[in-house]
Amino acid sequence: MTSIAGMRTIDWVDGAVEIIDQTVLPGELKILRLHTVGELVAAIQSLAVRGAPALGVAGAFGVALAARVHADDPQALAAAVHRIENARPTAVNLARGARRAAGLLRQGPQAVLDEAFRVRDEEIAASSAMAARGADLIVELCGTRPRLLTHCNTGGLAAVTVGTALGVVHELHRRGTLAGVIASETRPLLQGARLTSWELTQWGIEHRVAVDSAGPFLMARGEVDAVILGADRICANGDVINKIGSYAHALGARRAGLPFVVVAPESTVDLSTPSGDAVPIEDRGSSEITPWAPAANPAFDVTPHDLVTAIVTDRRVIRLDHSETP
Ligand code: MRU
Repeated sequence: MTSIAGMRTIDWVDGAVEIIDQTVLPGELKILRLHTVGELVAAIQSLAVRGAPALGVAGAFGVALAARVHADDPQALAAAVHRIENARPTAVNLARGARRAAGLLRQGPQAVLDEAFRVRDEEIAASSAMAARGADLIVELCGTRPRLLTHCNTGGLAAVTVGTALGVVHELHRRGTLAGVIASETRPLLQGARLTSWELTQWGIEHRVAVDSAGPFLMARGEVDAVILGADRICANGDVINKIGSYAHALGARRAGLPFVVVAPESTVDLSTPSGDAVPIEDRGSSEITPWAPAANPAFDVTPHDLVTAIVTDRRVIRLDHSETP
C-alpha cells in the first residue's frame, strides 16, 4: 500500500485489523497490524487511527477481534467491548460502531465481523455521497471558483477512503473548479499540516498550510470564500463538535460574512445528545503541549449551531436556517 489511490485507512486483513499509522505521516507510510483489543485501543488512543468515521470502523473491527478471542468468556467479552467503546470519549462514531458490532455477539464471531464490514462499507459509500452533495453546495454558496479553508484532517485517513470535508475539496478539484485550499495546521498534533497536506499532495492539489491563528485574519483579508470542515459529533440542536480551533474559524467566518460548512456522515449525527454542553470533551493532557508545566489541552470544541451555515451528510443538506433538502 504505497499510493493513496484506493487506499483504506483501516481494514480487516487475514484475521487482523490493518491501519495506516497516522502518527508517523508524512515522513513514513507504515502499516500496523493489530491482533488484540489492547493493541487496537492503544492505536486509537495514540491517534494512529483517528477521525470520526474511521473510529467507528475501528470500534466495529475491535469487537470482531474481541469476539474471536473471548468467544467462551462472556465477562471478558463485555469488558473488552466496554474498553473499546470508551477508548476515546468525544466522537460518537466509536461507541456507535462498537455497539453495532456488539449487537451481533449472540450470533457468533462471523456475524460480528460481517456487521463490521457493513460499518466499513457504509462509511465508504457515505464519503462518495457527501463529496458530490458538498461540492454542489459549495458552488451554490461561493460560485464556481471557491477558495476554501479547512481544519484538522477529514480525508481518506479519517474516513476509510475519500473523506468528508476533504472529500468535497477533492471532488471540486476533480471537477476543475477549485481555486485554492488552505489547510489550517491544527495544533498540537498537526493533523492539518501533516495529514491534510500529505493527502492533498497525493491528490495533486495545490495548497497552503497556515497556522491556526491565521485563519480568521486570512478570511478578513479576503483570501477565503468558505470554511469547510468535519465533525466528531453533531448534536440534536445542530451544535457541532470538532477539532479544537474549529470554533475560532467559525467566529472568523461569521465576522467576514463567509459560509461555515460542516460535512459529516449520518453516523456522526447524534440526536440523543441535545447540545454541545452534554458532550464529553477529551482533554489530552500536558505532555502534547508543555511537558514542563500544566496545560489545558481540550482536543475538541463546540461550534454553536447559530454559527453554522449548513451541515452536509450522506443523505441531506441541513441548512441551519431550518430548511432541509435531499
Ligand atoms: O483527534 P482527531 O484527530 O481524531 O480529531 C479528528 C477531527 O476532529 C476531525 O475533524 C473529525 O473527526 C472529522 S473526520 C472526517
